Amino acid sequence: MATGNDRLIQWLRDAHAMEKQAETMLEAQASRLEHYPELRQRIREHISETQNQARRLETCIERLGADTSTMKDAAGKMSAMMQGLGGALADDEIIKGSMAGYTFEHFEISAYTTLIAAAEEAGDQQTASVCREILREEKAMADWIEHHLPAVTKQYLEREELGGPAKR
Ligand SMILES: [Fe+2]
Repeated sequence: MATGNDRLIQWLRDAHAMEKQAETMLEAQASRLEHYPELRQRIREHISETQNQARRLETCIERLGADTSTMKDAAGKMSAMMQGLGGALADDEIIKGSMAGYTFEHFEISAYTTLIAAAEEAGDQQTASVCREILREEKAMADWIEHHLPAVTKQYLEREELGGPAKR
């Protein structure tokens, strides 16, 4: 049977793979965006946060005495790339991409909410506090998307109406 610490390590590794996936997805989005500079800027900021989150998770995993050299994030990266490509094929790419981003942030929020409880249960206050910090960043990104999605949608529809390039 897995101990609480094993589960915590496993979930930290899952979160690390999730952040690697996020990084691949966000980079694909930012590199394709042309007509939505504000969104592109916010995504770039979140890429730095995401890279930093992965490093903070590695520190937590190492502090628990687990090895980070064997972390297999490749599968996650691959599926993120496929998702990125899927969105790129849509003629309303900006909308599908923003919806996917909003959904992914909530997936991350649920992961860190779980991790905080697991870290507290294991008596690992440092990991709990790192995860609370990361959770705040994910919530801030989700809030940003929520507040900007209506404007992005209207801008997209207006650009489309005028026959200009709207999809990204
Ligand atoms: Fe994240």
